[in-house]
Amino acid sequence: MITKAKIFSVVNQKGGVGKTTTAINLSTAIASSKSKVLLIDIDPQGNASTGVGVAYNQRQKTIYQALTGENSIAEVVMPTKIKGLDVITATVDLSALEVELASFSDKNLFLRNKIAEISNNYDYIFIDCPPSLGVLTINALTASDYVLIPMQCEFFSLEGLSHLLTTLELVKNNLNFDLKIAGIVLTMHDVRNKLTEAVEVDVRNYLEQKVFKNIVPRNVRLSEAPSHGEPALLYDPQCRGSIAYKMLAKELLSRNF
Ligand SMILES: Nc1ncnc2c1ncn2[C@@H]1O[C@H](COP(=O)(O)OP(=O)(O)O)[C@@H](O)[C@H]1O
Ligand SMILES: [Mg+2]
Repeated sequence: MITKAKIFSVVNQKGGVGKTTTAINLSTAIASSKSKVLLIDIDPQGNASTGVGVAYNQRQKTIYQALTGENSIAEVVMPTKIKGLDVITATVDLSALEVELASFSDKNLFLRNKIAEISNNYDYIFIDCPPSLGVLTINALTASDYVLIPMQCEFFSLEGLSHLLTTLELVKNNLNFDLKIAGIVLTMHDVRNKLTEAVEVDVRNYLEQKVFKNIVPRNVRLSEAPSHGEPALLYDPQCRGSIAYKMLAKELLSRNF
């Protein structure tokens, strides 16, 4: 039976909240459960590409070439050293696309149309978004079934979240009626920090069951792994961060998306 992949955008307009770390490690955890997974990097910073082991000089064919039509999307897919996980990389070229797409009336549909050509090849697709709500992120949201929102438990997080939820509602009403929130992932959780706890309580009160039970702790191994070109799940499978992402993947899959 041919089934279309479930597509998740990993989104938060704030930078440094754990989007890329979440996209890399969830993709890896789910690939190791025998699913076929594709990670698409649409952040011109290309951190997700680095994090799964594709060095900058190995990125000749990227998401930019697929979106401009220079290559087919199938041609820009690369295997990773993680079994079951493919990647489409990004480089700084991608930042020009924002301007290049501006004059097209269907500028928000490019990624969706391209992904449609390969979505039958995968069980899950994760899109790692840039830290903005610009045309690249809107393309990702338009192409997705679900949104995953990593969030750091900080004072301004709730304010940012309500802005993001408004944008999601706009995309849902205008571009992608089927878009759903898969959940909020609390990241870089620090039990020693009282504010962390307070914000967590607020977020859970505000969004209730939309917040995943499994929380990602602050864990230095998660931040070391990318410099070794490996997901933390490979670099140190037993560290607290890796265990948290494995549990989170289980929780995600148990929600039957
Ligand atoms: N749970 C964590 N514990 C410690 N460091 C983390 C954790 N999650 C992410 N980091 C580090 O924090 C920085 C920002 O994370 P990243 O995933 O790149 O965020 P974003 O993609 O939202 O900008 C990176 O250096 C990353 O390695
Ligand atoms: Mg990132």
